[in-house]
Amino acid sequence: MKLAIVTHAEHPELRGTLPEFFPEFMRHDPIVEAFWPSLYDVYPDFQLWAVDREFRRSVGYGCTLPVQWNGEPDPRGIDWAMSGGTSGKPTTLCAIVVGVVPDYRGTGVSAAIVDRMRSVAAGHGLDALIAPVRPMWKDRYPLTPIERYIDWRLPDGLAYDPWIRTHERLAGELLAPAPRSMTISGSRAEWEEWTELTFPEDGDYVVPGALVPVRFTGGTGVYVEPNVWMVHSV
Ligand SMILES: CC(C)(COP(=O)(O)OP(=O)(O)OC[C@H]1O[C@@H](n2cnc3c(N)ncnc32)[C@H](O)[C@@H]1OP(=O)(O)O)[C@@H](O)C(=O)NCCC(=O)NCCS
Repeated sequence: MKLAIVTHAEHPELRGTLPEFFPEFMRHDPIVEAFWPSLYDVYPDFQLWAVDREFRRSVGYGCTLPVQWNGEPDPRGIDWAMSGGTSGKPTTLCAIVVGVVPDYRGTGVSAAIVDRMRSVAAGHGLDALIAPVRPMWKDRYPLTPIERYIDWRLPDGLAYDPWIRTHERLAGELLAPAPRSMTISGSRAEWEEWTELTFPEDGDYVVPGALVPVRFTGGTGVYVEPNVWMVHSV
């Protein structure tokens, strides 16, 4: 593979060339929905595409946002980055998302994207790269509190979760959980459309792709996604 990481400013035509990597309900966080359309237009130098030059195809992407960060990991993670985080003079780069097409996973593409995020931060005079990381296998353990899950370790001391592990291999450090990184609320009918499940009564439901159960009260389902803040020096 001849991998290249390019910015959206350099190759805007790559937008729309990748499949969706997340479950449908993840598209319904109102803060993200409101902010996302401006991300590529306002911050094109901060959005990355991974390209396999040999096969002339995009194989991954990474999105970041310059934020003003006071060193405190905000419990609202992504929602913070896309609201209050962007006010004021930026100090720090915040990673928002990384995605790699399934047939290129496990080949180091995501590490190359994170590494390039660090150089983007340095190139813009920002002091660190922070990330509210979405643990890749947390959906397998929706009943385990995020505080416990991020403590799970392999015998070599690295995180049990493969995506946290990749950050750790790149010298990323765990800061704190972001227990309310995204909040998604919808009516029963909306959740049924998003998930193709039925939710006959109020209560907690385990939903494929969700990191914690979705809680229905009075016919409204609320999902509060926990992530984990990590920091990389640049
Ligand atoms: C999270 C994601 C970007 C990680 O990319 P990746 O290419 O799998 O990452 P890595 O190459 O660093 O692999 C991480 C680990 O998973 C393993 N792995 C993941 N997918 C694999 C696959 N299809 N085949 C073999 N190994 C795989 C790797 O071997 C590695 O394990 P190791 O630490 O024991 O070596 C990718 O899985 C993805 O796009 N997922 C969907 C979107 C998402 O959840 N993004 C993260 C939240 S923003």
